[in-house]
Amino acid sequence: MDIRVLKTKADIAKACGEIFIEEINKKPDIVLGLATGATPLPTYEYLIDAYKNGRVSFKEVTSFNLDEYCDLARENENSYYSYMLNNFFNHVDMDKSRINIPDGNAKDAEKECAAYDKMIEDMGGIDIQLLGIGTNGHIGFNEPSDEFTDATFKVKLSDSTIKSNSIYFPDGDMPRYALTMGIGSIMKAKKIILIATGAAKIDAVDKMVNGEVSPACPASILQNHDDVIIFLDEDAAAKINK
Ligand code: F6R
Repeated sequence: MDIRVLKTKADIAKACGEIFIEEINKKPDIVLGLATGATPLPTYEYLIDAYKNGRVSFKEVTSFNLDEYCDLARENENSYYSYMLNNFFNHVDMDKSRINIPDGNAKDAEKECAAYDKMIEDMGGIDIQLLGIGTNGHIGFNEPSDEFTDATFKVKLSDSTIKSNSIYFPDGDMPRYALTMGIGSIMKAKKIILIATGAAKIDAVDKMVNGEVSPACPASILQNHDDVIIFLDEDAAAKINK
């Protein structure tokens, strides 16, 4: 694991954004795996600025998002579809037909998941996968469990995830299920960049980096990937620095 501890979220957004810009300029039809949540927002802002300054174009880029809630209208402001449009896609020149996000309202979730994996495979796989990490060590919505998951699947969200994300659903209507790429799907990405910022992530980061590789901390599997960059701010890195 290539672990880079930087001072501020802005420093991470710049360092991470510059990797994306370089890779996209090298391969304009790159396939990106994208994440939602609070963590990647500064990186998306950095990329939007770079686009506005003519340093990068997303015209030929294809994207696959990690996950989407089930039983939440796509138009709901808290869907990951809305998140991606509002925080990134609407501000750059992405071709909307190349944006892929699992359909959490699909009647047949199993079919939707299999079709999602097939689309990724047909595109030649993900070149760079961006990840955040849950306080419980989840990546995507792969929650701690007894075994590592494989392909895209429908998951029941853990109490910890419901607690963390219910701040976005003050009316108490936080979805209980989601579709998510599996650990197997994530590990197939050629390059992985994970960002963790803030003190709430200290223990998850410590287990990911120093713990045994175990589905009890799904992110620990990244120790087995041969091209992973972990960007941490000093708060999130507090335990691993000791
Ligand atoms: C988001 C995702 C999740 C988040 C994680 C951290 O698409 O798959 O794994 O990356 O829950 O969320 P934040 O960044 O909000 O702390």
